[in-house]
Order: sequence, then C-alpha cells, then structure tokens
Amino acid sequence: MSDYVVNRREHTYPPPYPDGWYRVAASSDIRPGEVRRVQCAGEQIAVFRSTTDGQVAAIDTFCPHQGADLADGVVKGDRLHCPFHGWQLDGQGRICSRPGAEIQPLAHRHWEAVDYYGMVMMYHSSARPGARAPYRLPPLPEIDNRQLVLRGQYDAGDVDMHIIEFAENSVDFRHFSEVHGVMRIPWTNIRLPWIRIRHRPSWSLDNTQEHVSYFGDETTLEIGGRVCERTRSRALITFLGPGGIVKFDFFVPQIGHITMFQSHTPVEALRQRVIFRWFAARRIPRLLVAYVVGSWISQWRQDVAIWRRKIYRPLLSGPVDDGPRRMMHEWYRQFYADGPVPNLTEGKDDGG
Ligand code: FES
Ligand SMILES: [Fe+2]
Repeated sequence: MSDYVVNRREHTYPPPYPDGWYRVAASSDIRPGEVRRVQCAGEQIAVFRSTTDGQVAAIDTFCPHQGADLADGVVKGDRLHCPFHGWQLDGQGRICSRPGAEIQPLAHRHWEAVDYYGMVMMYHSSARPGARAPYRLPPLPEIDNRQLVLRGQYDAGDVDMHIIEFAENSVDFRHFSEVHGVMRIPWTNIRLPWIRIRHRPSWSLDNTQEHVSYFGDETTLEIGGRVCERTRSRALITFLGPGGIVKFDFFVPQIGHITMFQSHTPVEALRQRVIFRWFAARRIPRLLVAYVVGSWISQWRQDVAIWRRKIYRPLLSGPVDDGPRRMMHEWYRQFYADGPVPNLTEGKDDGG
C-alpha cells in the first residue's frame, strides 16, 4: 500500500495508541539475564529480566547518556548495563552513572511490566509514561490451579489495522450475518455454504470495573436449512482495556470450556501484532480444541480482510442501526487520558 493511502487511512482514526496493557514478548523469550528490543505504541523499548528476583522490566532502549541502544547491553542483577560507557539502569529507570556510584534520581522512561500467563505485558500511557497502571490484569484461578492448561498458541503476524477495530467489531451487530454467517473449515478460508451460523451478539459494561466490557455471542448452526439446537454454543469475550489483551471464554456443549487470550500489540499506528494463546482442560481432545479455536480464527480472518483496507467513519446521525456503537465509544474514551479524542464520537450531548 502506498504511503499516501496509509496516511489517509490513519488520519481518519482516533490516535493510534490508547492507554492499556500490551503484550511485548513471550515470557519464555526473556530468561533471567536476557534483554530484548521491542517496538510498541510508538516506543523503542528494552525489555529485560533480573537475575536477582526474575522480575521483568521495560525501559526506553536509548541510553540517557549518549543514546546507545541498551538492548545491546548486558543484564547484571537487576540492572541493565549500557554497551557504550557502562552506565547502569534499573527497571524503574533509575540511573547509576558508573559502577559503585550513587543511584541518580534522573528519570529515564520506563513502563510497568509483568508476566501474565506466559506473556510479558507492559502498561502504556501516552500522557503519563512510567505511571503505574490504574488496574491489574485479573488472576485466573482455573489456570492457576491447573484445571485449564496451555494447549496452544498461534502467531498471526502483523495485521494492518487500527486497534479500535476489534472493539468496533464487537458492537457492530449488523456485520455478523454478512461476514460471519457462513461456516468455514477451521483455520482456513474454505466456505461450507450449506452450514450457516446464526449469531446472537450482545455487548455490556462491567458494573464495577470501568476498564472492562463484555462482548457475548451465542451461535447456532443451521445445516441444510435446519436449525440444529444441539450445536448452540456461547462465547464471552472480555475486553481488559482497549483491546491490547482480550480474553475469550468458549463454552461448547459436550466439549467444555476453553479460555483464550488474543493480544494486539500496536507496533505501528495501523499495524497490530496479533497472537492467540489458549488454555483448556487436559481431557478435551486436541482436535476439538483446534476446531473451536480454528473456527474463531477463520471468522476473524474475514474481518481482517475488511479492516486492512478500510478507513474510519464517525458515527452517523439518523436512522442507521450501528448497534451500541455510541456506548462503546463513550467507554473507549477513558483510554485516552489526554482529553478530547479526535474522530471518536463525542459525549451524549453532541446530538450526532
Ligand atoms: S551511551 Fe550509554 S553509557 Fe554512554
Ligand atoms: Fe467480525
């Protein structure tokens, strides 16, 4: 795509990097004493793991002294040593100018980072880099007590889309029959035109956690024109913020419960790195788990084909049924701490 087209698309959207938790690495890719360079939310970041306590840390990769790339440095204890003149930085962005010297209170940009079920997550805020996250990612007892165990991961690579599209998708009830109405062979684009999927989508806010919203979809298969009640299944999709990490719970009759994370890491304004990671009970056969996850991914690819080309249009006034889109926009505005958000629907009183 030409730069002109990319720029034209980009300017129609809200700002590209809403505040939230983003996946910046696999936990297993950064062992104690290792450092990696990552790109997320317009920042170049050195992510490293302490050899002292095993904690991950994320700091601006350009050294505060003369700008060398700290990701080329060495981790010793809980500090990252710059490869150029040996300055040492800790995970809070505090600087020790030379070995043995006092830690200086100079603030080097850094971000809160945690391990979360095999993913290194970093909290980004455009207005307040380095601020503590206003909410934690929730513990999942079923994984902690090993009722659900890791069953797979799929790295979908980079997708040319703005991160808000995933939230837009969840409130866009009208596209389900058009885009997701036909069954496809899991993991593929191959249509099975004699099997239709009936969707009953819903969207709601969490009463107590402001940053959480829910997208529900109840599906039933219609095979050769006959609704097949026993195929009814339910998916609950929990937005833990603006879409950097989204949790799926699939409840499938005769199969059970599968939990999946879908992460969107904004590596550029209109480019998300998308990774799926799922957990299920050991007793569920691998093929069934692959069927459920692969069916979702096949349907998600139908959305991607549209997202990667589209521009963003504001909410139309008048008799257009765009589902609870306005409500979603009002919820989404909290992820932009800077104030008014260009291109996102204004508040209730704008009459739009
Ligand atoms: S550039 Fe890092 S210590 Fe000089
Ligand atoms: Fe969709």
